[in-house]
Amino acid sequence: MNDTITVFKGDGIGPEITDAVLSILDAAGAGLNYEIFSVGAAEYEAHGALIPDDAFASFEKNKILLKSPITTPVGTGFRSLNVMMRKKYDLYANIRPAKSNPAVKTPFPNVDLVIFRENTEDLYAGVEEMIDENTAHSIKIITRACSERIIRDAFTYAVRQNRKKVTCIHKANIMKLSDGMFRDIFYEISKEFPQIEADDKIVDNAAMQLVMKPEQFDVMVMPNLYGDILSDLSSGLIGGLGLLPSSNLGCGYAMFEAVHGSAPDIAGKGIANPTAFLWSACMMLDHMGKQEVSLRIRKAVDEVLMEGTAITPDLGGSGTTADYVHAIIQRLS
Ligand code: NAI
Repeated sequence: MNDTITVFKGDGIGPEITDAVLSILDAAGAGLNYEIFSVGAAEYEAHGALIPDDAFASFEKNKILLKSPITTPVGTGFRSLNVMMRKKYDLYANIRPAKSNPAVKTPFPNVDLVIFRENTEDLYAGVEEMIDENTAHSIKIITRACSERIIRDAFTYAVRQNRKKVTCIHKANIMKLSDGMFRDIFYEISKEFPQIEADDKIVDNAAMQLVMKPEQFDVMVMPNLYGDILSDLSSGLIGGLGLLPSSNLGCGYAMFEAVHGSAPDIAGKGIANPTAFLWSACMMLDHMGKQEVSLRIRKAVDEVLMEGTAITPDLGGSGTTADYVHAIIQRLS
C-alpha cells in the first residue's frame, strides 16, 4: 500500500539530506508517495512566503510531515518556523531518543535515554516585551493541561516500551510556581503508573549527571527550554548532532525532523550526515505501522557505520553524503 506524506525541504543542508533520505526510503521499499515543498528562508527570498499555502494544505490532508531543518535569523527577522509549526498544529510532544551506537566511538557507550520535551509553551510561548529601552521581559508560561499531557505521554511510553524509570527535570527551587507546578503534576500522574519508578532532578544537576553518569537516565520529561538544551547535550554524548532524531506528535498530526539545524557552515559541500534525519524517517515509518521497513534501514545504517569507510567527517570519516547513502542502499538491495 502506498501512503502519501508531506515533505518540507528547508534551508542549508536541508535539501541535501532530504534527497538522501528519500532515496533510501525508496530503495528500502517504504511504499510512500511524496508531496515535496521548498520552505524557509530561501523560499521566502524567492517567492515571499516562508511556507507556501499549498504546503500547509498538504500537511493538513496527509497529517504526516517529514521536515528538514530551516534557518531562523537570530535576534531580528521572522519567528522560528519550527516553533510556529509546533504551535499551529499543537505538536506538543517532542520525543528525542539518544542511544549509543557501538559503531560510533564516544566516551559514553551506555547511553539509552528518551527525552520528552513539552513543545508548545514555557519561554517559547514568544511573549516578550520591552519594559523600557534597557529592560526586556520574556514570560515563561506553564499550564496544568499542557504539563499533564506530556507527563502522561512519557509514562505511557515507558510502560509500552518496557522502560523502568521516568525522571522529571525542572528548576522548581527557583521557579517555585511554574516549575513547582510541573513537578507536582509529575508526582500526581506518577501514581497512575506504579510499575514505573519516578524521580526528579534540578536541571543544572541533570546536565552534570548526564555527562558524569548518563546510564542512570531512562525516560526524561521536562518543559520546553530544558528539553531543547539537554537533548543537544545528549546528542553530544552519542557522537554529535548528526545522530539525534525526533518526532513531534500532537492530536492527529505528526512531524518528524532531525534535532540539528540547517548547518550553514557545511551546506553545499556534500558532507552533511543524513543519519539523524534518516532515523527521524524511521520513527515516522514506525508511527505509520511500517516497522519492518524501518528495521531494515536501521540495520543497514548500523552495518555502514560499523564498517566505517563511507562515514561523514562529523563522525571522523572522509566520506561524502553520496558515499554514505550509496553504501546504505547497497546493503538494502
Ligand atoms: P546546527 O545544528 O545547524 O549546527 C551546529 C553544528 O553541528 C555545525 O557545526 C554543523 O555543521 C554541525 N551539524 C549539524 N547537523 C549536522 C549534520 N547533519 N551533519 C554534519 N554536521 C552537522 O546549529 P546552528 O548552527 O546553531 O543553527 C543553524 C541554523 O539552523 C539556525 O538558523 C537555527 O535557528 C536553525 N535551526 C533549525 C532547526 C530546525 O529546523 N529544526 C533546529 C536547530 C537550529
